Amino acid sequence: MDVADDIWLDADGYPLLTGPVFLIGFMGAGKSTLGPLVARHLDVPFNDLDQEIQIQTGVQLQQLFRRGEEKFREVEFRVLQKILQHQPDETEKILQTGTWSRSKIISLGGGTPCRPGRMEWLNSQGLTVFLNVSTDELVRRLQNQAEHRPKLQGLTPSQLRQRIEELMEERMPYYRQAALVISEDQLDAYRLCTQIRSYSAPPTVPRPDYRN
Ligand code: S3P
Repeated sequence: MDVADDIWLDADGYPLLTGPVFLIGFMGAGKSTLGPLVARHLDVPFNDLDQEIQIQTGVQLQQLFRRGEEKFREVEFRVLQKILQHQPDETEKILQTGTWSRSKIISLGGGTPCRPGRMEWLNSQGLTVFLNVSTDELVRRLQNQAEHRPKLQGLTPSQLRQRIEELMEERMPYYRQAALVISEDQLDAYRLCTQIRSYSAPPTVPRPDYRN
């Protein structure tokens, strides 16, 4: 049998994604903005972990964070596990092409992968995609949004840059373990889709290497 006979294609003729895709990266990297657009394009469900935490706990993220970061990280991980277990009928619908997918796009929080063992676990569960945005661009995007983010509140502009640099240094060793690293400040949903699809292409097709 031809290898290609084994590969299910989506409505656009690309190999069907078979598992969850985790978007990871720093606050402001575009995970929550690009995630739903990519999910719509690929016709798979979308979950935003931060939103899901608030829905499931009934508590605002900032309030939850005030109870201590360790507690927040525990809740965050439990909610993520629940998202992965949940397989609504919708995701099993037979597509027009006669195929079906258990895939979904999940935007994680900036700190979700940054615990010992967490990247290994995420890589065993699905495809991890690191949206690697430059510090200059993160500072630009976050300067008006810092007040809503517990890790960045109450900082002057120069303190904000310093905090971002410090956190990035701590987090890079985790983020860099992603299967797919995309270093682009102006990434759009179309290009992100293309890169996810290329990565998920059959093994007979060489995978592009986006690491640098
Ligand atoms: C955090 C990032 C936030 C949120 C929480 C903590 C972090 O998510 O989970 O405020 O530690 O980087 P976003 O990356 O979606 O802003």
